[in-house]
Amino acid sequence: MIPENYGTDLPGKGRSVLVTGASSGIGLEISLYLAERGFHVYAAVRQSSRRDLLEDRMRGKGLPLAVVTMDVTRPEEIAGTRELIENREGPLYGVVNNAGIIVRGFFEDLTDEEMRRVFETNFFAALSVTREVLPGMRKTGRGRIVMIGSTGGRIGTAGSSAYCTAKFALAGFTESLAQEVRPFGIHVSLIEPGIMHTELFGKNLGVGSNASRPQGPYASMFERLMALSVERSRASSLKPADVAGAVGRALLDPHPRMRYVVGRNARWVFFLKRYLPEEAFQRGFTRTFFRQLGTNRNRAGLTDV
Ligand SMILES: NC(=O)c1ccc[n+]([C@@H]2O[C@H](COP(=O)([O-])OP(=O)(O)OC[C@H]3O[C@@H](n4cnc5c(N)ncnc54)[C@H](OP(=O)(O)O)[C@@H]3O)[C@@H](O)[C@H]2O)c1
Repeated sequence: MIPENYGTDLPGKGRSVLVTGASSGIGLEISLYLAERGFHVYAAVRQSSRRDLLEDRMRGKGLPLAVVTMDVTRPEEIAGTRELIENREGPLYGVVNNAGIIVRGFFEDLTDEEMRRVFETNFFAALSVTREVLPGMRKTGRGRIVMIGSTGGRIGTAGSSAYCTAKFALAGFTESLAQEVRPFGIHVSLIEPGIMHTELFGKNLGVGSNASRPQGPYASMFERLMALSVERSRASSLKPADVAGAVGRALLDPHPRMRYVVGRNARWVFFLKRYLPEEAFQRGFTRTFFRQLGTNRNRAGLTDV
């Protein structure tokens, strides 16, 4: 249960927010951060068995945080959660579409089913959750919808086509929706973090079923790519708490921005993409990619056409 009088002098002041994918990493940190600022947080975990980490972190703090169970790919669970919250609090003030998965693999090694699975969680689920909360927000004439995007939602990278295309789609949706709902007092923001170490690069790191075939044409590149991305996530100084801070701004700024970029590397690569001619950017990006893999295009069997 959410304590009634927690944080009436805090910036969140009892406004209710639903956070998806709160069992670990960024979603967990966002949930705690918002509750500490007085929001009434409904932290949604996919399975009840995955609530321990969050409950350990909130124990004894008396935070205004309730853990609910909701698989974002199940519309009936989304509807049930919205109803539960509205019965207690009235229409939601905010929603944070954070739940996400990754399935790594070069495109030829990914099945259509794997591509669709990534889209179901990273894109269509955000649409379903948003669709569910919009009528209440329109009724109250206010609301904040926050999408957790990625640098991969503005820059496509090899071995991540499923993830990047779903995040690109989410970014496009954010822009369209923001225009549609602004007249109703609702703001939509996209948070774009750079890479950081979470379970996404640990036990939740998905790999396409054909991606690890030792005889496959991409096998050696893929093996090095996997090692490199785990290494880069571990070396990153970014933390889930940095993303939580940006979400806090998107929920509280009087005039929230459309995009909040999180991390120096993300800002730098977006700067280059914006100001370099497209061809120069893509050439530099591809060259850096192969250099980091410790290979070159010809050794990898690739030639210019
Ligand atoms: N880590 C990064 O470098 C990074 C960078 C930019 C953006 N992001 C984005 O940040 C978000 C959170 O990722 P993370 O890094 O914190 O990874 P994470 O620790 O793996 O967290 C992912 C969360 O999503 C949940 N989830 C997955 N499928 C779900 C479903 N069908 N229903 C409900 N919840 C589901 C997971 O629940 P379970 O525990 O049940 O699996 C987990 O709570 C993702 O959208 C990701 O794309 C991450």
